[in-house]
Amino acid sequence: MKSKWKLRVNALWLVPALLCCEPVMGRDITPAGASSPTTVPVYLDDTKPLEQRVEDALSRMTLQEKIKIIHAQSKFSSPGVPRLGIPEIWCTDGPHGIRPEVLWDEWEQAGWTNDSCTAFPSLTALAATWNPDMALLYGKSIGEEARFRNKSVLLGPGVNIYRTPLCGRNFEYMGEDPYLSSRMVVPYVKGVQSNGVATCVKHFALNNNDINRHTSNPIVDDRTLYEIYLPAFKAAATEGNSWSFMGGYNLFRGEHASYNPILMNQILKGEWNYDGVVISDWGAVHDTKTAVTGGLDMEFGSWTDGLADGVSNAYDNYYFANPYLKGIRNGTYSQQELDDKGRRVLRLTFRTSMNRNRPYGSMGSDEHIEACRRIGQEGVVLLQNKDNILPVDPSRTRRIAVIGENAIKMMTVGGGSSSLKARYEITPLEGLRKRVGDAAGIVYARGYVGDTTTSYNGVVTGQKLADRRSAQELRDEALEAARNADVVLFFGGLNKSDYQDAEGTDRKSMDLPYGQNELISALAKVNPNIVVINISGTGVAMPWLGEVKGVLQAWYLGTETGRALADVLTGDVNPSGKLPYTYYASLDQCGAHKMGEYPGHPGIDALGNEVMDIPYNEGIFVGYRFTDKNRLKPNFPFGHGLSYTTFKYGKASADRTTASADDTVTITIPVTNTGAREGKEVVQLYVSDPKSSVPRPVKELKGFKKVSLKPGETKTVAFELTADELKYFDADRHEWVLEPGEFDALVGASAGDIRSKVRFTVK
Ligand code: BGC
Repeated sequence: MKSKWKLRVNALWLVPALLCCEPVMGRDITPAGASSPTTVPVYLDDTKPLEQRVEDALSRMTLQEKIKIIHAQSKFSSPGVPRLGIPEIWCTDGPHGIRPEVLWDEWEQAGWTNDSCTAFPSLTALAATWNPDMALLYGKSIGEEARFRNKSVLLGPGVNIYRTPLCGRNFEYMGEDPYLSSRMVVPYVKGVQSNGVATCVKHFALNNNDINRHTSNPIVDDRTLYEIYLPAFKAAATEGNSWSFMGGYNLFRGEHASYNPILMNQILKGEWNYDGVVISDWGAVHDTKTAVTGGLDMEFGSWTDGLADGVSNAYDNYYFANPYLKGIRNGTYSQQELDDKGRRVLRLTFRTSMNRNRPYGSMGSDEHIEACRRIGQEGVVLLQNKDNILPVDPSRTRRIAVIGENAIKMMTVGGGSSSLKARYEITPLEGLRKRVGDAAGIVYARGYVGDTTTSYNGVVTGQKLADRRSAQELRDEALEAARNADVVLFFGGLNKSDYQDAEGTDRKSMDLPYGQNELISALAKVNPNIVVINISGTGVAMPWLGEVKGVLQAWYLGTETGRALADVLTGDVNPSGKLPYTYYASLDQCGAHKMGEYPGHPGIDALGNEVMDIPYNEGIFVGYRFTDKNRLKPNFPFGHGLSYTTFKYGKASADRTTASADDTVTITIPVTNTGAREGKEVVQLYVSDPKSSVPRPVKELKGFKKVSLKPGETKTVAFELTADELKYFDADRHEWVLEPGEFDALVGASAGDIRSKVRFTVK
């Protein structure tokens, strides 16, 4: 007789089912070669619907097991349910590459030798491609590396809005605009998750500075929240279906973001109907009760007592461990609440490590290297190019002076949790040398000594950056090199040290460090043919802008940095990146500094704790919305980026002049390459509501397309506008509102370079 209860030694999944001592509902199968069938428990049967499997697994779990799966067992993992064969969940940073393995309980790297990754360009560089195909390629590639390393969750991408150029983590985010970041985050998420690896979109929400990050309490009205700070997260949740979300360290309306009832329960799980897991930022939980009710599902990284009591004790003392268990037993917390968290964690597990159909992934493949280089090439932004100083033609250049520390400094190590152990990293100087060879003599001079750090959490670059020469000697050498060169390429900017592009601190000013401003001016005096290649993940002041011919925004480009930069500098690749944020001339032009507060002032939260209140008085006027409103001229506007060719825009037209709320208005515009070489242009569509009952930005980005054009070629670019792109958020009614009337569609090459305008009326 066929029996459900028959134990087969080779049917490992049956063992846990038996131990559970409950009747097993499931499917009878006969494994190949076996004489009698066995039963696959529903939760292990991937032909069954996800929710059925989740319920089945949950019904087999004890209270203790449910508690176990919602908190960490090590720095980056949670235990799963070993008895049922439900695997551990392993997380990894994110978002630019797969973090090296760390010790079980420490941030220090574990010293494995098989965990070097491909370092992809920083997320600001990705955003600067303005190319969703690049975001998909990025996500797919990094997801493959995560999968190969057996990770279930990639801690990224970050989509906090660039509110101030001083934020230490801007380089990990996608710029100032809610529309651009929304369009770029969705393909990144889809690319990663196509590998059966979850993204963990962070840091939800309003984590817009890193100074005082545990006590920052942004004071933001609903309209600003919904129009500026939420859209990228919403897109990641509702269009990308990111399987997990990470809460921020900061507070919002008196409660920590990681378990904020408004952000997590009302908005994410309520309005957006989110069925994924909310993971705390590492060490962001401070209390059991509010975390339980505030929508948090998994606790990671809580500070322990240094594990003096032993590993298990430390993790058992997490807020979501024994204190929670005790509270359930004495009736403080309900079982339903815990089950909801358990369901979410199980869903995540089934979508990732228990997805039998997921691919195997790959690491350091030629495809990943190629992806890294292509994304870098497309992300680099040519900001200024007087006298067509770029590209540098090596065959016609006798001598190139390469100056600056960032020409030789590896940047993949450092900066906080996104620090990597790259398989290799080609510096800008190496990249140029490889490309130029002996054709043009390259003379290198450092010019200044800035930061000689070459390690992070035990990962060392192997570089030796100490230099005993005096500042004067370094400077003299640089001036001498510049004087005798045809062209000077100055590689400067920031690096990944504290108070620069780094987690846990913000910059203290927009200025370049280490006396670079003075050095650039001095170099420009001895040789006007100078190009500044600024390596940073955020905007810097450029007091020398009028003194130099070329400026390139070069971000952090990871493994292939040097090659991608050489490609653009020598003209092998025509630059096509555009700024994902406004490049202010000074902090005065930034709404957060001029109208709002930064970094805020001391206040007291609902529980009587000291916090830093940060009134976002600038409201919706962030980035170009602020410079437009106040008619300010930034150094470079949002969306700006030049090419080695030129583009002519024709006249924009709309397929209808009058539309109803249900109509789609199609805006078209012909764009022609009027230069001598092939190039890509990002055609941008902004919408303006000239007459409105509420203050509205002068214009807002609502569409963009990157088109490739051969010399002389014309393409007609089309954008579809629906009612959604015309609405504003009415806080009183708590809904998006379309006001009938006239709207302008503005098409241009940047927020500061609108080429054509067409008006239409919505009835
Ligand atoms: C960061 C997160 C990161 C986590 C784990 C935190 O300090 O804010 O972005 O994913 O650490 O490393």
